[in-house]
Formats: sequence, C-alpha cells, structure tokens
Amino acid sequence: MSSTRFLTGITTSGTPHLGNYVGSIRPSVRHSLIEGVESYYFLADYHALIKIDDPARIQRSTLEIAASWLACGLDPERVVFYRQSDVPEIPELTWFLTCVTGKGVLNRAHAYKAQVDKNTASGVDPDSDVTAGLFMYPVLMGADILMFNAHKVPVGRDQIQHIEMARDMAHSFNHRYGEHFVPPEAEIEESVATLPGLDGRKMSKSYDNTIPLFAPREQLKKLIASIVTDSRLPGQAKEVADSALFQIYQAFATQDETASLRQAYANGIAWGDAKQLVFERIDREITPMRETYQALMKDPAKIEAILLKGATKARQIATPFMGRLRQAVGLQDLRAQVSAKVAKTAKAAKPLFKQYRESDGKFYFKLLDA
Ligand code: TRP
Repeated sequence: MSSTRFLTGITTSGTPHLGNYVGSIRPSVRHSLIEGVESYYFLADYHALIKIDDPARIQRSTLEIAASWLACGLDPERVVFYRQSDVPEIPELTWFLTCVTGKGVLNRAHAYKAQVDKNTASGVDPDSDVTAGLFMYPVLMGADILMFNAHKVPVGRDQIQHIEMARDMAHSFNHRYGEHFVPPEAEIEESVATLPGLDGRKMSKSYDNTIPLFAPREQLKKLIASIVTDSRLPGQAKEVADSALFQIYQAFATQDETASLRQAYANGIAWGDAKQLVFERIDREITPMRETYQALMKDPAKIEAILLKGATKARQIATPFMGRLRQAVGLQDLRAQVSAKVAKTAKAAKPLFKQYRESDGKFYFKLLDA
C-alpha cells in the first residue's frame, strides 16, 4: 500500500514562538514519526518575499526556523525537509497553474480581499499596497502542494480556502491535460490548542505578544512573569477560565499537573508563585532543545547542508514530474511527435463538478461541461 503524503510549509517571516511550537512544530514532529506517513516540510521563503523586503530578516528567519524544527526533533533522514527556493520547479509549476486559474477565483482569496476591503473602507484605491505577489499567493501555494501530489495538508482554519483553490487548480489542469495531479485535502487539527500570548489574545507576531520558543532562560522567566493576570491577592481563589497563564501551562503539563494547578488556583496561590511554576514546567521541556538550537545556530553550514540534501530529495521527484508536465502542455523537443493520445484524453474528459466554500461559510457548486 502506498503511504499518505503530508505536506506543510512554514513562511520564513519571523522567529518561532511558543504558539508555533504548540500549534505546529510539536504536533508535526510527532506526526512525522508515524509509520506509513510520508512527510514534506519546507521553508516557504518565496512566500516570505510577499510580506518582507528586508534580506537580512528573511535569511535570519530561515535559519531560525530551520534550526527550531531540527532542534524539536524533525529528522531530515525520515522526512523531506527543504527550502522552497531550492526547488526551481516550484516557480515553474506556479506559471503552469497561473494559466489554468481563473482571475475571479483569486479575487476571492481572503488575504487579498481583506486588503481590498480595507482600502475601500478608507477611501483609497482598492488595489493600493496590493502587489501582484499577494494576489498570486494562492497559486504559489498550489504549486507547493501539487508539485509533490500531497494528499493531506495540515493547516489552520484560515488556510482552508487556499487548499480548496489548490484542488480547483488540480482539477482544471487535469481537465485540460490528463490526470497529473491528486486533488489535495485540508487536514484541520481540532485538538491542537491555540496558545494565548502575553496579553491574553492569541499568541501572534501581529499582536506583538509572543514568547520566543528559544528565548534564553532569564528572558523566558521575565516574559512569563509579564503574562497578564487579574489583581487578586495571595490567598484569594483564582479563576482558571480566561487565565492565559493557566492555558499556557496546560499546553505543556500532564493532566495530573494541570489538575494540581487548578487546585492551587482554587486555594489562592499567589500569581508570582504560579508564574514560577509555569516557567519551570516550560523550561524543563525546552532546555534540552534550546541547547541543540543554540549549537545549530552557531553552525549555519550544517543547516545549509541539511537543506541542500533535502532539496536534492525533493528534486528527485520534482524534476522528472515537471518534465512530464512540460510535455503534457506541449513544451517539448520539436523532434518529438506531440502525443495525439494525450490530446484526445483531454478532449474526452468528462464534465466537471466543482465545489467551493466561500467566506460566508456556504458551499457553492458549479457544473462545467467537458
Ligand atoms: N501559507 C502558509 C502559511 O502562511 C505557508 C505555506 C506556503 C503552506 N505554502 C504552503 C502551507 C503549502 C501548506 C502548504 O502558513
């Protein structure tokens, strides 16, 4: 039986924080260890260029994210771990997909639409500050996924629409040129917690409320000490509901440990003592990985070599596949006979049923004739 292929991209636009660790790195690394699973993890550095025009930041983030995933136990021998920009077949496929993607479909992409709506609301040109890169974001993402014919793409809810668009691109291409792509599916991790940040809102770079995953010990302690609490005094019972500190602890602790902190809250533990407990628990999990991380950060050559090896593995799939796709669309050696058979299969294609979910949450269907 052939295995299920999973694929995930991480945009290289920041420093990994505890929220990334709990929500993405830790579950992904665990998942990659399951038998019968073939995983692809890549650093989406072409995607980062859409948001960031600071070369030093892009490079720094790429290094930090690669070092973090490796330090957290991702085994590059077991998975395919690569950098998007080391696989030139991906931008090439992006163009092929661009040519089978309706502009109207991209008009509806959330990130683009949000910017247009914002511009319209503030009375400026609808496309103000919108690059063609932002508009094309879903096509590049579609190429990432379809390049390796991934079956499942683990993503957060905000990315479901992109996976649906990738499915659509797979269908459109297959419809014209024969069955080349597997339509991917989004895999939503319901059980994975979103971690609150220092101010109690979701931990996110855009709220500037993050705790860096590998902050030095002293800084980690200071940051945990600055998590918002209410003003209840030592001896007064504390509420666990809405306590960011409690939720963060829960993401690291066993059930028994969580139960005893719950009890300590009820018994009126002082906030300072609760914070010390949370710090020690997190630090216990992070310390061994932090040491590996720091060693890797001092050895960029090692990470570079790992990524290049990963790209070689990725291209063992991408290069021949792209060759077949080039042939399928008619970009080929002029001495070769254009295969009439391929053209015929495409013509004989069946009518196509398409399904979308729009931002209103409703499903929409389309039936296209062959
Ligand atoms: N868009 C994803 C994010 O912002 C990153 C990404 C790029 C990705 N290409 C992908 C995720 C392909 C899954 C599959 O998080």
